[in-house]
Amino acid sequence: MGEIVRVVRSRIKIIEVQIVQKGQQQVSPQKGENKADYRGVFLDQLKQNSSEGFFKSIEINRYVLEEFLNTFVQNIYGMPFSKLRTEVEKIVQEHEAPVDLRLKEICELLKAEIPYYTWVGFYFKNGDKNELKLGPYAGDPTDHTIIPFGKGICGQVAVSNKNFVVPDVSAQDNYIACSIHVKAEIVVPLFKNGENIGQIDIDSNTPDPFTEEDERFLEFVNEKVAEIL
Ligand code: SME
Repeated sequence: MGEIVRVVRSRIKIIEVQIVQKGQQQVSPQKGENKADYRGVFLDQLKQNSSEGFFKSIEINRYVLEEFLNTFVQNIYGMPFSKLRTEVEKIVQEHEAPVDLRLKEICELLKAEIPYYTWVGFYFKNGDKNELKLGPYAGDPTDHTIIPFGKGICGQVAVSNKNFVVPDVSAQDNYIACSIHVKAEIVVPLFKNGENIGQIDIDSNTPDPFTEEDERFLEFVNEKVAEIL
């Protein structure tokens, strides 16, 4: 089975190149394109290409092939946001687990399933101080465990109450660098009873990766998290 998977993987790489060469689709969705639709188109093309010739000749089980193609496409595009929403809801509802553990699970899920999410973490208002304190996160540890209101992208969101999408961190003056590899950042405030009590912060090593889909998804995550705070 391992050998078949290895051969199929290399064959898919060839098909991927052929699809691009035929000009049917580009391999990566362009900014602003709906990644979910795109995933469907790409999967259809892979299936069409794979139903002939090579895949027949190695007599791979149709079900195994479908599963493999799905995994392959998911590895490129990540888990669809619709499925991730369901997964986030499930984690939130694990009532026997401590809240911090559930938040950490959400961070791990997002980091693992969205290829351009390099670091995912929550910051919360630190008591009655005008500063943010780092909460659960996934990714490399950061020195910035306390951020004063107004400082950096996070501190600005603490006072603006608005999403902050940064396509290129090097173009920001008021930015706190956590790693030299980070190219972009998105911070979405978290409201409880209408009050801005924290935020979710995503760093990306990919330049300009975030779309409105990310904003809507992260707003959803924060709404769900607010229910258990
Ligand atoms: N870059 C953030 C600091 C937090 S780290 O990204 C984890 C900022 O400018 O506020």
